Amino acid sequence: MRRPIFATPRARALDLLARAHHVHLASTRPDGAPVLRAVHGVVIGDLVAFHAAPVGEKLDILGRAAVLQAARVVAQIPSHFLDPERACPATTLYESAQAHGVVVEVSEPEVKAAVLSGLMERHQPEGGYAPIEATSGLYKKALAGLFVGALRIESLDGKAKLMQHRSESDRLRVLERLWERGADGDQEAIEDIRAANPGDRPPPLLRGPAGTTLAVALRPADAEASATLVGSAYWNEGFCAERIARATSGSSAWVGARDEAGELVATARAVSDGAKHAWIYDVLVEPRLRGAGVGEAVVRLLLAHPRVRGAAFVHLGTRDAQAFYERLGFVDRARVVRPYTSTTMTLTRSELVTVA
Ligand SMILES: CC(C)(COP(=O)(O)OP(=O)(O)OC[C@H]1O[C@@H](n2cnc3c(N)ncnc32)[C@H](O)[C@@H]1OP(=O)(O)O)[C@@H](O)C(=O)NCCC(=O)NCCS
Repeated sequence: MRRPIFATPRARALDLLARAHHVHLASTRPDGAPVLRAVHGVVIGDLVAFHAAPVGEKLDILGRAAVLQAARVVAQIPSHFLDPERACPATTLYESAQAHGVVVEVSEPEVKAAVLSGLMERHQPEGGYAPIEATSGLYKKALAGLFVGALRIESLDGKAKLMQHRSESDRLRVLERLWERGADGDQEAIEDIRAANPGDRPPPLLRGPAGTTLAVALRPADAEASATLVGSAYWNEGFCAERIARATSGSSAWVGARDEAGELVATARAVSDGAKHAWIYDVLVEPRLRGAGVGEAVVRLLLAHPRVRGAAFVHLGTRDAQAFYERLGFVDRARVVRPYTSTTMTLTRSELVTVA
């Protein structure tokens, strides 16, 4: 790779190949003609395996050198983020993985079954089929009739182009513009750029009190730490950890704060229609950091979040933190002047929550 600053570790490159919906495989036929195919890939050890009908182009590339690629776009950066006149700074931030090797046939029935199981888990995660086992009468014939090939990886290049070659002040401007633009994926792009440039100071937007750094887009990897923080809160009584984690990942906005060691110490989320109403849930600061302004910083960030900032009404329920929210402009719903009066009504699906 020409620019080592863009290189990502092998495990991350493999993870990108494994998570890609499909990968592109390029090789040549024995007569030298180029072949390019999109395949569903499954990573097993140093193999990226794929399936095909036992006739056709994919068989022509057996034993031949090939290259396989997956990529994901992180964000499209328009030139005007960095320069009001010149088009030159326009760029795409992305992550890619490229594996070089030789195409081999996978013929052991157990490995073929493992490849097809991997494909089903990836593309039909809800299940609804009998497990694919080499000895199963249901699949024996299908397994025998199907071609399973694989690229045996000889070298693997992972690349993440996330502004590592630009100045810290350019990155800061781009982070601010991404937050302003607030398109789908822009919050995640902010986190990706920050993670790829760990020496940068957090931008003012993300500087929290008491040495904390705010995060505009928490990830599935944060779900466990977040569920631990909010799991024992009174409003989560009756919900299991898995349902709390699903509620979190199903939110329109999920922000938080990390301490100096990178541990999640605060979390807050919102469900929003982006125009009329947003509802804030699961606001919690780790007890040792309470009273230092972290809660206020996290809620302000959530209110400014692109999915929430356009909502005319922002609602929440609280048993005892009214004073905390009043400082942020919230008032008791009974005092909100509307041209009509209404009560809040709730349908409880008691099969989904244990209500004492
Ligand atoms: C509420 C909570 C998120 C506030 O976070 P924090 O980081 O401690 O808040 P800040 O430091 O920004 O603000 C502290 C101020 O909030 C107010 N406050 C915090 N918790 C309060 C509570 N339970 N009742 C009344 N006021 C409260 C206090 O007035 C305090 O002001 P002070 O510094 O003058 O004493 C945090 O205390 C917490 O996690 N509590 C448990 C979970 C909870 O109740 N969440 C909100 C329910 S929706």
